[in-house]
Amino acid sequence: MRNLRYTLKTRPEGALGPEHFDRVDEELTALENGKARVRVVYVSLDPAMRGWVSADTKSYVPPVPIGDTMRALGVGIVEESKSDAFKPGDWVSGFTGWTEWLDIAPGAMNVVPKTAAMEDYMGILGLAGATAYHGLVKEGQPKAGETLCVTGAAGSVGSLVGQIGKALGLRVIGIAGTDEKCAWLINELGFDAALNYKTDDLDKGLAEFAPDGLDLHFENVGGKPFAAALRHMKAFGRMIFCGFISVYNGDRPDEYPDMTAIVRRRLTFKGFVMTDHFDEYPSIFAELGKLMQAGKLTYRLDVVEGLENAASAFGKLFAGTNKGKLVVKVSNPS
Ligand SMILES: NC(=O)c1ccc[n+]([C@@H]2O[C@H](COP(=O)([O-])OP(=O)(O)OC[C@H]3O[C@@H](n4cnc5c(N)ncnc54)[C@H](OP(=O)(O)O)[C@@H]3O)[C@@H](O)[C@H]2O)c1
Repeated sequence: MRNLRYTLKTRPEGALGPEHFDRVDEELTALENGKARVRVVYVSLDPAMRGWVSADTKSYVPPVPIGDTMRALGVGIVEESKSDAFKPGDWVSGFTGWTEWLDIAPGAMNVVPKTAAMEDYMGILGLAGATAYHGLVKEGQPKAGETLCVTGAAGSVGSLVGQIGKALGLRVIGIAGTDEKCAWLINELGFDAALNYKTDDLDKGLAEFAPDGLDLHFENVGGKPFAAALRHMKAFGRMIFCGFISVYNGDRPDEYPDMTAIVRRRLTFKGFVMTDHFDEYPSIFAELGKLMQAGKLTYRLDVVEGLENAASAFGKLFAGTNKGKLVVKVSNPS
């Protein structure tokens, strides 16, 4: 049986693209005792992967070694098993990498229930859902009636942050990069306001929609939207730092904020990374499941067909052309 996978060839200076990967077309050997063979169905494309291919050894995970299969989260189906931990037909979620097939030992991936759609494990019941819930609820400690601003608001994490905020009784302002995304936030997701950071005057908009200032801010992008939010924080406000996609390709933020506001308004800054909180996943997914059943979470997936298109599609995250959670469909779910 043949397998296709992509390995890291070189580390990018700027944007990550197909030129940084080698295509490996190989014959699979027989499955070893104690392992299970997984057919990968979806792999997730996440902004963090840009960091995983950098040479930074001080980050929260080690860099992907040159020559290794590209690291990626994914879901798949066990097709063959020589392990008591897995049986054929099981759905498994975890780190698959950019490969069509992989052999896993017990503990390498989690068996997930078939009560949700398989795609949900890439979004709401995956890293994005866990990140949105943990970041907003555990780190942000929101209280009903407070005003929340979220950047990257129409993205995978940001769109859930805003909707969880609404479900908790917050006033929610989203900042995103197109008018279509802003209209989606207001008309479909129930955000109270949305600003286009490319065309709107953010200071004017934030002053209009949050005249008393922001109690809570959830940062996904950095740069100009972050600087504007910082200028509009209330005294004792909390800023939660989830990501800074605007600088992942090595670019500097287009506006360096005046940090003196941190002292003048006695702000709390809090960064977090979900790899520190894997133990919370079951309880978070139970809460998200309840919100899904109550019809309070809308989510969209942007599906790219074929593993061979993963590397070129990755750039959509940085161009803002992904509409929702960006995933690659590697094989059919059935
Ligand atoms: N801390 C954690 O554990 C954790 C876990 C998951 C994700 N994250 C972080 O969360 C953030 C969002 O990730 P995601 O998976 O949900 O991606 P996403 O929001 O679905 O996609 C990325 C979006 O970022 C926006 N963007 C790209 N370049 C930008 C720039 N220069 N300035 C402003 N906005 C820009 C684009 O939307 P626009 O059209 O609006 O520009 C793009 O669609 C990332 O920073 C990621 O690293 C952190």
